[in-house]
Amino acid sequence: MAIREILTVPDPRLKQVSKPVEGGVTDEIRALMDDMLETMYDAPGIGLAAIQIGVPLRVIVMDLAREGEEPQPRYFVNPEIVETIEETKPYEEGCLSVPDIFDQVERPARCRIRYLDYDGNQVDEWAEDLYAVCIQHEMDHLEGTLFIDYLSRLKRDRAIDKVKKAKIRAIREDAN
Ligand code: NI
Repeated sequence: MAIREILTVPDPRLKQVSKPVEGGVTDEIRALMDDMLETMYDAPGIGLAAIQIGVPLRVIVMDLAREGEEPQPRYFVNPEIVETIEETKPYEEGCLSVPDIFDQVERPARCRIRYLDYDGNQVDEWAEDLYAVCIQHEMDHLEGTLFIDYLSRLKRDRAIDKVKKAKIRAIREDAN
């Protein structure tokens, strides 16, 4: 396992549409998911899509366990949303690719998803609460969409600017 670099805005790779995994969940895909999980825990975050470490495949990892709880890693290969309910709910979202920016996004409160798990088994289930928010946020990454794309242009530009400036600052501090 290895910790990989997480891409941040405005890296153009984050706007890429990710490709389906062909040939099922192989050891290679499992190794990718292991790296992604380690990278996500290190950040720390609760969800990560493969494109966030520069791999344009439809793969997501997640862990919604609260602090002090046992880890509950979840793995999604080729996830699809097959149904959503009409009711929407706002949630204050953040993203490892847009560090230190948080804002409200409104999404369907529940969604039914279908995906392959770590062992390659097909799962079909309903997601609600934080799980529904997180899977929809991560699945947006597979389409090249970030949560800041739902905000006003002004807010989005400001967010990107803030992340860019913070990165430059961090590089300068490293150099000193
Ligand atoms: Ni994200």
